[in-house]
Amino acid sequence: MFSQRTPASLAPNELTRALAARRRAGLPVLDLTVTNPTRCGLALPEAEILEALTDARALRYEPEPQGWLGAREAVAMHHAAQGYCADPGRVFLTASTSEAYSWVFKLLCDAGDEVLAPRPSYPLFECLGALDGVEVRGYRLLPELDWAIDRAELEAQITPRTRAILLVNPNNPTGSYVHEEDWLYLAELASQRGLALVSDEVFFDYRLAEGAQPVSALGVEADALVMTLSGLSKVAALPQMKMGWMHVGGPEGLVREACARLEWIADAYLPVSAPVQYAAPRWLALAPRVREAVLERCRETLAVFQGIMGGTVRARPVEGGWSLALEGPRTAAGDPALRLLEGRGVLVQPGHFFDFETEGFVVVSLLSRPDEAREAAGLIEGIWQPSSDFSPFGR
Ligand SMILES: Cc1ncc(COP(=O)(O)O)c(C=O)c1O
Repeated sequence: MFSQRTPASLAPNELTRALAARRRAGLPVLDLTVTNPTRCGLALPEAEILEALTDARALRYEPEPQGWLGAREAVAMHHAAQGYCADPGRVFLTASTSEAYSWVFKLLCDAGDEVLAPRPSYPLFECLGALDGVEVRGYRLLPELDWAIDRAELEAQITPRTRAILLVNPNNPTGSYVHEEDWLYLAELASQRGLALVSDEVFFDYRLAEGAQPVSALGVEADALVMTLSGLSKVAALPQMKMGWMHVGGPEGLVREACARLEWIADAYLPVSAPVQYAAPRWLALAPRVREAVLERCRETLAVFQGIMGGTVRARPVEGGWSLALEGPRTAAGDPALRLLEGRGVLVQPGHFFDFETEGFVVVSLLSRPDEAREAAGLIEGIWQPSSDFSPFGR
């Protein structure tokens, strides 16, 4: 009766069940997974955010498939401040970055076509691919080479049905920007093999390591389509406002054709509400200040983890973003995230959610409060000790 675009089983996973059991039992949970910027105690300019929604132009309906030009110009100015040139005429507004992926898939793929996505990375790709009938195949990032692309494996994954290579820059949760040499390699590969490059840059402005030298897809020249995706949810810490975008780059003729077809897709949905489009320039003007507050939180929490961990568990180096991977030794005792929740009441993301190859990884949100991070760090370390007094529900 139902399509196979949704999973065969919608049953909650083991960690979700354990969390529900803990909450039912009234036991405390120290939650280090919160990446919702509106729920982590940050001081945001609330009055100015709300005030932007009162633009009287929103009283009229003037549908534009690509999105209101004023908002697209503001997006281009945001990228100009990063040091990149984005053409408002090549920007498409969507309700979210996730929706931008869906339009990219609709633009490039027939049912059964394939895209390549980094591994480990953001776990939504498979779900987004399945919803559009697209198969997502993974290519490895190499931890021993600062998460550089495993080029041999990437090329081995390409089939006649491959349409695009997805990148997350910086990657969630490894916090690694796409290396400059990898961009050069990808530009050549995509040009030769007729593939599009699709770069998710929602965290691009959240640079945490002084030495990191981010390169955006907006600066990549290729004889191929280069799509750059981002959105207000991370850029302005406003996930509730629902606006994302994509920029279409590449050779003139290909871009013209892609934009015409994207306009056709966009016209079928017209997803971004008028108040949000008219507010977007003001939110993007506030965004640098908001990002500073978010970055300060990320840096403080990162410093806590880097300072406290280091015995059995170590914080992996991170260049940018809101996540931190913690790596402990592989144990025979099973998923450390589950053991942490059941034994210590600390909620983290299991590494396998992100397709880390070994079991020793867990992921924490850098939006977590520094005091909670401090409290949790010792508990996390304890779970890897052979002698840890593991007791379900005890904390
Ligand atoms: C890498 C990455 N891309 C996209 C998104 C989703 O962005 P949006 O809320 O604009 O759909 C997230 C959300 O966590 C993310 O981590």
